[in-house]
Amino acid sequence: MSEKLAIPAVIAHRGACDTAPENTLPAFREAMTIGSDGIETDVQMTKDGHLVLIHDARVDRTTNGEGLVSNFTLRELRALDAGSWFSKNFTGTTIPLLSELLDLCAGQIPLVIEIKAKGIEQLLKENILHHPRGREANITFTSFSLDYLVALKGIWPEAHCGYLVREPSFNLVPGLRASGIRQICPPAKSLTSEAVEAWHKEGFTVRAWDVKTEDMVRHCAAIGVDGFTVNFPKKALIFLGKQVNR
Ligand code: G3P
Ligand code: CA
Repeated sequence: MSEKLAIPAVIAHRGACDTAPENTLPAFREAMTIGSDGIETDVQMTKDGHLVLIHDARVDRTTNGEGLVSNFTLRELRALDAGSWFSKNFTGTTIPLLSELLDLCAGQIPLVIEIKAKGIEQLLKENILHHPRGREANITFTSFSLDYLVALKGIWPEAHCGYLVREPSFNLVPGLRASGIRQICPPAKSLTSEAVEAWHKEGFTVRAWDVKTEDMVRHCAAIGVDGFTVNFPKKALIFLGKQVNR
């Protein structure tokens, strides 16, 4: 396999989640501070129709509460502590609203927003377009559900979308193209330089995930992916010889 010189974008997965609690404002701030090339997050909806950033369907793992995100009102959800499970230094950190991420990041750093809940496409579009700086935001919407992405493209054809897959099958090309989806997002270990080149030739960008080691960072750079999400963005930036702000 020949090594390529393209240096992929380092996208902080759930923010800089190695140094701050995942999917919180401190993690997003840190990702920006260190100079990540992008920030990835996960969006869901509260019982009363607010878009919030949390990975799991339940609050149990990353807060001091219990239950489904969709069973909490925003007020109830905001009363939870989403920081102390990570470190007592983050006690009192709350689950952020999508609008708070936009306040912090819109127009400053590319965002990857993974749609984790069904039927929120219209609300997502409205939240972003009604935000004072939402139109400045460089956003790629991703999902493991092609249905969610197709629904989003149906109401918002200009939205950039990336399809998260566990296997990057070329059988997907016609369907994705027909849906206006131009990015494929496979796990890094499933990719070769030949596959990346083939996807590029088809007009797709390739963004990898599940990058857990420096060897995987090196693999991503060697095979020419356009970017990857990673839980240790600062180390990945350093490893790739990119500028790190502190
Ligand atoms: O970057 C893709 C990745 O975010 C998908 O997996 O479980 O972290 O949402 P997950
Ligand atoms: Ca995600």
